Order: sequence, then structure tokens, then C-alpha cells
Amino acid sequence: MEAKITLLRGDGVGPEVIAEARKVLEGVASVFGHTFTFSEALIGGIAIDETGNPLPDETIAMCRASEAVLLGAVGGPKWSDPMAPVRPEQGLLGIRKALGLFANLRPVKVHPALLEASPLKVDRLKGVDMLVMRELTGGIYFGGTGREAHESGELAFDRMAYTTLEIERIVRCAALAARMRRNKVTSVDKANVLEVSRLWRSTVDRVMAAEFPDVELEHILVDAAAMFLIQKPASFDVMVTGNMFGDILTDEASVLAGSMGMLPSASLGEGGMGLYEPIHGSAPDIAGQGIANPTGTILSAAMLLRHSLNLEAEAAAVELAVNSAITEGVRTIDIADGGASVNTCEMGDAVVARLSK
Ligand code: IPM
Ligand code: MG
Repeated sequence: MEAKITLLRGDGVGPEVIAEARKVLEGVASVFGHTFTFSEALIGGIAIDETGNPLPDETIAMCRASEAVLLGAVGGPKWSDPMAPVRPEQGLLGIRKALGLFANLRPVKVHPALLEASPLKVDRLKGVDMLVMRELTGGIYFGGTGREAHESGELAFDRMAYTTLEIERIVRCAALAARMRRNKVTSVDKANVLEVSRLWRSTVDRVMAAEFPDVELEHILVDAAAMFLIQKPASFDVMVTGNMFGDILTDEASVLAGSMGMLPSASLGEGGMGLYEPIHGSAPDIAGQGIANPTGTILSAAMLLRHSLNLEAEAAAVELAVNSAITEGVRTIDIADGGASVNTCEMGDAVVARLSK
């Protein structure tokens, strides 16, 4: 097949990890006989530097004209003043919204060879294989924000809002994913306090009862979910939650996998368009050193093959190649546990070398 893929390299280690994922996609193209055409566009801090805008119009247009988008990371100390009117993160939030990517899939699996890399006790980690389905274009991130004068100085607010439709469509994504896995959905909210969460919970109950009676459903409050993620992480299959809770819980869940550098994500909307990115940030402390772990980005490329290009065998081949490399002891420094390590480029090469039909 032929496919156009937009690469948004972004900031920090973004360009380094994207280079490896591109190499792997090129490897897939040659092994399986596809033609992937890559084009690059600006996002984040580098886009601010070059155009004054973290999300230039040309970037949105290029993404819309492609089948899928692969993104590195945005942000860095140069642009990190939270009071600055223009910030790299606006580019990321803006592209998610502009492309209508409301479903953020963050799978968390622990590779058996990396059990020791996690700070958690090994017996808790056995069998961890979960998918967080985070709502990505609503909630408190997009409900409107403002400031007013206040007798003590100022009052600032961010509005948390969800519509029935926004909740219904993410629950459907979660339940459909659960049917392909272990058939269980855990919905996370704060229904003992928030009105938004009460609408969330009743909507989840209604959709699941009417459309997915075969899928097991449980509700957990977000504070308890934070605890259970550490206490009994293997009990989760698909976790569905709103934008901010999902943001927080997925960073927590990433610790299970030993390193943030290991985990991929997919952001999907209606239709096949998707944006794929590692869950880690721009890691400015190690940028430019060639030691970043490209695995999360490479696994994101596998998700791209699966969800946007419908190339399941190719996606599985990439995942298998990553697994074999890890099993055979190929390690970037973040997962080397003090032992021998390879650099970013060598990790990418190790995956490409293990690709086969
Ligand atoms: C993430 C990130 C972003 C988010 C930031 C960079 C805006 O933390 O993708 O989890 O909060 O969504
Ligand atoms: Mg986050």
C-alpha cells in the first residue's frame, strides 16, 4: 500500500526518537513491500522559534493531508515559563483538537525481561497488561478558563465540562477495545464530589447496559484508582477516564513498565486518522546526547500501522522485533540497570535487524 505519514519531530529528544521510528517504518515498507512517504512539519518550541506559533496552519494542513501523524515530543526549559502567552504544549493540545482526536490509547505492559527495572515488587507486576482509554479533547483541558479580580489579588478558574456525547463515544471505544482483550472496563471518576463525574458514571452505565452487556464493568474513584495501580495493577484490563485523570494516571502507570521511554500511545478520532506519540516528554536533560530510548516511539509507529493503516501483521512484526531485542538484552541506558547499554540509533538498528514477515 501507499501511505503519507507526517512526522512532527518537535523538541528535545523528539527528533532523535522520530529518526529511529522512521527507520523502522522504512524497514517495514521494504520487508512488506509498501511505499510510505514522509513529510515533516513544525510543532512546539521549535515552531515558536521559527514562526512564533506552536501550531502553524501549514502543520495542521499537512497532518490533514496524510493518513497518520507521528510525533516526538514538545517543550523544554527555553519555553517553559508557564506565564508565557505562547507555549509549546498549546501546539500539542491544538493538534489533538484540530484533528478531532478524542480517544487516547495508552497501553501499559511490562516486558518480562524488565520486571527488575520497575521500582515495584516483581510479584505485583506479573500479568500487568492494561490499556488506558483517556478522553482527550474535552474535560477541564478544554472547558474554558479565565481570571477575575479578587479581594486577595486574583481568582483563576478552569471549567470542567463533559457532554453526554463526549462520554458515550469514549465509553464505546473502551468497551470495543475490552472485547478484543480480557473483556473488562474500569471507569474512573470522582462521582462522590463532581457533577461532571455523576453524568460520566450514569452515561457509562447506560451505554454499557444497552450496548455491551457482555463486557464486565466496574467504577472506581480516581483516588482509589491511583492506589490500586500500585497495589494490584494486574487487575486492570481497559481503564476509561476523562482528560485530566487520564493524564495523571498514565504517568503513574508508566512506572510499572520500568521506564517512560518504553510506552507508546495513539490518539484517534472518527475515521482512520490518528496521531501517534511516545508518552514521554522532550527530556531536555538528555537531549542531543543520542541516549534516549526510542522504544516508545517505535511502538507508537506499530500502533500507527495497526490503527491508521490497518496493517496488523506489520504492526505485530514491529512489536515482535522490539520484544526480541529486549529479550536478547539490547538496552538503552534507562532500562540497563547499570549494565551495558546501546545508544538511540543502535536500539533502532536492533529493531530493524529483527523485522521479518
Ligand atoms: C500528555 C502530556 C500533555 C497532556 C501535555 C504536554 C500538554 O502531559 O500527553 O500526557 O497533558 O496531555
Ligand atoms: Mg501527561
